[in-house]
Amino acid sequence: MKILLVDGTIIGRKTGAILEQVEMYLKEIAPDLELKILHLADFDHQFVDGRPLGEYNEDMGELVRRFENADGYIIATPIFQGSIPGVLKNAFDLLHPRTMRYKPVSIVANGGTYQHHLVIENQLKPILDYFRCLVTPNYVYTHTSHFDETNAIVNEDVHDRLRELARVFIEYANMSQHLSKETIDKH
Ligand SMILES: Cc1cc2nc3c(=O)[nH]c(=O)nc-3n(C[C@H](O)[C@H](O)[C@H](O)COP(=O)(O)O)c2cc1C
Repeated sequence: MKILLVDGTIIGRKTGAILEQVEMYLKEIAPDLELKILHLADFDHQFVDGRPLGEYNEDMGELVRRFENADGYIIATPIFQGSIPGVLKNAFDLLHPRTMRYKPVSIVANGGTYQHHLVIENQLKPILDYFRCLVTPNYVYTHTSHFDETNAIVNEDVHDRLRELARVFIEYANMSQHLSKETIDKH
């Protein structure tokens, strides 16, 4: 299975650092998974404005292909203004609604305050529900204080939560393989 680890920001390093940690834990449990980290910062973004897909630049087309070719996703986001970064929402807006259907997704997020973990529940999960993803019940929210100055995660509870997230994600990934991505309804 191909798993895309999406670093949903064009600024900052912590979400990328969390993804590298998740990548390690996923590899430990399931060495056969094909894991790829996608940094939104590496792409030349254009606002999604309703034009046909072929009229966006090459990077936007590549974004769509990378999402479509994946069998599951780890979505990493910082919290910006009590929400997710616009660039991540813009990437979601680019996708066909069936792109992530019935595929497993786990969420990791980082914020500068402890209080904003509910952004995941109130804002990111509803988007992934719209896409009909298999969102794992556990997600990991980190705070700046969980990292050292090199952005390594130094909090053992966070490591345990990430290990658990990797374990549950693999279970969901296995489950998704038996779920037909074809649907009876056409929407
Ligand atoms: C524009 C902007 C808005 C932010 N808004 C919030 C916020 O509403 N809540 C919060 O907890 N952190 C907020 N932060 C803090 C970021 O979530 C935090 O800086 C980031 O996750 C730290 O990662 P980094 O060191 O990789 O940048 C904001 C940061 C920026 C740049």
